[in-house]
Amino acid sequence: MADQPHDVLTDHAYDGIEEYDNPMPGWWVWSFILSIIFAFPYWAWYHFADGRGVYAEHEADMERAAQLAPKLDESKQAMLGYLDNPEILAAGQQLFVAKCASCHLADGGGLVGPNMCDDNYNNIRSIEDIITVVRTGIAEKGMPAHELLLRQQQIVQVSAFTASLRGTTPATAKEPLGEPIPPWR
Ligand code: HEC
Repeated sequence: MADQPHDVLTDHAYDGIEEYDNPMPGWWVWSFILSIIFAFPYWAWYHFADGRGVYAEHEADMERAAQLAPKLDESKQAMLGYLDNPEILAAGQQLFVAKCASCHLADGGGLVGPNMCDDNYNNIRSIEDIITVVRTGIAEKGMPAHELLLRQQQIVQVSAFTASLRGTTPATAKEPLGEPIPPWR
């Protein structure tokens, strides 16, 4: 390439435009060749070996994040304990106002959803059942699932706050739904 004379005209002209027959610059040719060489191990790595695509990387990151996220015990004993834990109840109240008050009212008196302050429940027999209802919802009755909207810790916090509304007096109380159940403890 190097000994080829520069500025040699090709023998064609289009609309009076002529063209030199100069070689591509060396850096261009080399980056072309190197990218072809690079393609083989790249292809082998991502298609047949360990190489993970962006989706797999993202999933692995999300899994790691989920493992790092704080979790709360969901047992009945733990739930009863949270009723005396002002930090958990305060976090739960914030979530309740944001995510639940549209249907249950901020003080739990009930609107579209049932009253949370009385002793009657439809789907709850024991305090920890609240977690299940919040997590999976009751689709046919209009109670949405929250498993994709809230983290595990938040589901437990808001469930504990919901339990703590029982026995309080709301501004307006919706008529009771379901059966009276024994006290939480
Ligand atoms: C779109 C309205 C809506 C939202 C938002 C909503 N709920 Fe409900 N919820 C309902 C309805 C309707 C029911 C009644 C289910 C039934 O008839 O058995 C219900 C039932 C419940 C029950 C069971 C009550 C019982 O007597 O069995 C609990 C507990 C509950 N909701 C908690 C929550 C919490 C906590 C949130 C927020 C994280 C929330 N809900 C958000 C509409 C809603």
